Amino acid sequence: MDCRTILVTGGAGFIGSNFIHYLIETYGDQVEIINFDALTYAGNLENLKEVEDLANYRFEKGDITSSKEVARMFETYDVDLVVHMAAESHVDRSILDPEVFIRTNVLGTYNLLMAAKRAWEVGPKTYAAGKRFVHVSTDEVYGSLADDGSFFTETTPLDPHSPYSASKASSDLFVKAFGDTYGFPFCITRCSNNYGPYQFPEKLIPLMIHNALKGLPLPVYGKGENIRDWLYVADHCKAIDLVSREGRLGEVYNIGGHNELRNIDLVKSILQKVREALPEGDPRAETITEGLIRYVADRPGHDLRYAISPQKIHQELSWLPETCFDQGIERTIQWYLENLSWMEHITSGAYEAYYDAMYQHRGVTADKTQEPQSLLKA
Ligand code: NAD
Ligand code: TYD
Repeated sequence: MDCRTILVTGGAGFIGSNFIHYLIETYGDQVEIINFDALTYAGNLENLKEVEDLANYRFEKGDITSSKEVARMFETYDVDLVVHMAAESHVDRSILDPEVFIRTNVLGTYNLLMAAKRAWEVGPKTYAAGKRFVHVSTDEVYGSLADDGSFFTETTPLDPHSPYSASKASSDLFVKAFGDTYGFPFCITRCSNNYGPYQFPEKLIPLMIHNALKGLPLPVYGKGENIRDWLYVADHCKAIDLVSREGRLGEVYNIGGHNELRNIDLVKSILQKVREALPEGDPRAETITEGLIRYVADRPGHDLRYAISPQKIHQELSWLPETCFDQGIERTIQWYLENLSWMEHITSGAYEAYYDAMYQHRGVTADKTQEPQSLLKA
């Protein structure tokens, strides 16, 4: 990547901040990075404190739902590549409040497409050389698979079920429409569930690590039989970088971990790994047992299984996930253990209100002393 100016939207979030670290580690000062982020509850500049003083990194606070703020980025910088990750990203929140998902994920993506088109277009269906828009999407747009060994491929019809996945599918279709109608230079990536450092503890893996360390109940939706295909975030970052440089314009690339796990098996494995990661004699080990698991009311419209075939990105760009799950989860747990203050900052204040709103009706609270006697059953 020869000194390109990269606009990363949502760079203060989980994948965004990992991606910025990846770019700096891989390309040093050969890249100019602009991190455009509204700093919602999910955005955290603490994720980027090691890079914040670098001359080739800049943070720009801004909201993709504002066409003005987005246009300002393209007026201020000669952007070569947009890696668009800013989004509302949590399914459970989308069930409670879908509207913000439509605004951010659909309107926000449209604003970025329009601004990039205006800045890059040099004639009808012609764009300045080397410009590219990489839209980071999700396998959830494909809907749900049966537990039958089948996979999502790039040609699987879109069939989203949650407001989150519906908003992501809509944004994907706008990106494609800009390509079809205006010849806009884009690639779309669709990845499976990521895990790793800096993930907000609303998602399954960091939530379970956090609760286990605090001796709090571990809420497993339904019977815990839903299956996700877990991808270590650094492997995902490498794939996005490859698509940004070598992916064919107008194409979709699925990015998967080849690592399917039932939720309940994953939670049990986290319990064991967290226990093993604690220093000998650590009193927390005694409470970190399967006794913490609570089967709670299921998520409405809960997709049974996601599994990705990464055959296309493997064949075209030689990408395969490099981190096996055992290694990835151990690294992740170690990171959370070494960054307890990061977790403390995130889980104080608004997080407790979120947790209670999301889990109290399922019979689980953040307050150990108030654990109800009768828990909702799936
Ligand atoms: P995240 O929720 O951790 O971070 C989202 C970031 O976007 C935050 O920094 C937030 O402040 C920012 N943001 C939200 N609304 C904004 C707005 N209106 N304007 C500007 N910034 C805004 O999300 P993530 O897990 O890092 O996901 C990144 C992208 O990857 C998303 O597009 C998501 O749909 C996609 N994705 C994530 C996963 C996963 O497992 N985490 C899987 C598949 C796809
Ligand atoms: P999540 O991390 O929210 O990702 P997604 O819904 O986008 O796949 O959830 C992963 C799986 O874990 C999903 O099947 C729902 C389940 N889950 C629980 O069982 N308990 C929880 O507290 C959470 C957050 C998720």
